[in-house]
Amino acid sequence: MNICTTVIKSRQSVRSYKPDPVDDLVIREVLECARLAPTAMNRQDWVFLVIRDPVMLSKLAGLTEHGKFIAQAPVCFAIFGKRAHVYYLEDCCAATENLILALQAHGVGSCWVAGDKKAYAGAVRELLNVPGEFSLVSLVSAGYPGDVKVVAKKPMSEVVFYELYGNPPVR
Ligand SMILES: Cc1cc2nc3c(=O)[nH]c(=O)nc-3n(C[C@H](O)[C@H](O)[C@H](O)COP(=O)(O)O)c2cc1C
Repeated sequence: MNICTTVIKSRQSVRSYKPDPVDDLVIREVLECARLAPTAMNRQDWVFLVIRDPVMLSKLAGLTEHGKFIAQAPVCFAIFGKRAHVYYLEDCCAATENLILALQAHGVGSCWVAGDKKAYAGAVRELLNVPGEFSLVSLVSAGYPGDVKVVAKKPMSEVVFYELYGNPPVR
């Protein structure tokens, strides 16, 4: 295993955080990783917001359906894409995953909280003063892990096929 696969394999969604703040340099570094994600036609039609104000974190949490734990996180990121760009969703999801993995590499736990398709997406955009041409794609709460719940993953044999659907690897 190399460092990248180790980081990927060690990640779990973390919804409970220690109160310790996440260092500014770490925040900068993970945002750098987010903005380096691939984008269709290299459009980079996105913006990343960093929310650390406890009042704003509580308001954000209150708007979400399954993200009430955002209120206890030291930081939450919000990723928005320009709706007019046909691939904004894919682009912002790539950035979200880069962000999450970079956080993990720094020992910071996080959880992707749905934004796109959620009725509260517009309210989050307005709360954060983001122009109407952007759509919320994801929120990512982050902090040093408290409790971590490990969930089961489907085995490779159930989801990976070689050449044709249903074919296991030839050994
Ligand atoms: C698009 C997307 C939306 C998600 N939205 C939420 C959410 O609103 N609240 C939440 O607690 N987790 C959310 N999650 C996290 C998933 O529940 C989590 O990734 C899944 O249960 C697998 O667990 P793991 O991340 O620990 O592997 C979301 C994940 C994705 C990819």
